[in-house]
Amino acid sequence: MDRAAEFKQLVEDIKQHHCSLRDGCIQAVPGEGNIDSPVVFIGEGPGKTEDELGRPFVGAAGKLLDEGLAQIDMQREDVYITNVVKCRPPGNRDPLASEVAEHKPFLERELELIQPKLIVLLGRHALQWFLPNEKISSLRGTAKRQGNRIFFAMYHPAAALYDPRLKDTLFSDIKKIPVLLQKIDELQNDASFSPQSQGALF
Ligand code: URA
Repeated sequence: MDRAAEFKQLVEDIKQHHCSLRDGCIQAVPGEGNIDSPVVFIGEGPGKTEDELGRPFVGAAGKLLDEGLAQIDMQREDVYITNVVKCRPPGNRDPLASEVAEHKPFLERELELIQPKLIVLLGRHALQWFLPNEKISSLRGTAKRQGNRIFFAMYHPAAALYDPRLKDTLFSDIKKIPVLLQKIDELQNDASFSPQSQGALF
């Protein structure tokens, strides 16, 4: 199967799956966007609008993410956008650890397929999943390497909706992404680069 077919199968598997959140939501919301993108954005889980439309980040938080992408001359179609959990938790409550674990194989398959150079963690749920010992308030705006993955943490756009003072921070962080991607290219072309190294990067 080629990548496009594998992705189509994954989307189908996500749409058809049954999990503990499934009875309480309208539909599962697969990730979407460019599977050749060097960058993947990971949020928490679908909200009301996403549940209704079956697409990630299409409500108010998504509009802010689109605005942020426009700051770096990108559109949502240029990147891949997904969530830790693919089904809306009731009343938008935080997903439970058990629910996140149920959905983990989907997220792992997305990342395996796309092999992004940079994984952008939007907010504490995405951060907790990959870097459980880190705090969003201290890590945001910085990149961290773990194994062969490079993460960049940002506030969740919904946080900037609740507290508009965070909007400037969100936008100044997103503006670091093109520079980071360039630095990652340079690093990977450096013969001394070890893909297994850990720790803070830039
Ligand atoms: N918040 C998220 O974390 N994901 C969405 O898809 C929408 C809002």
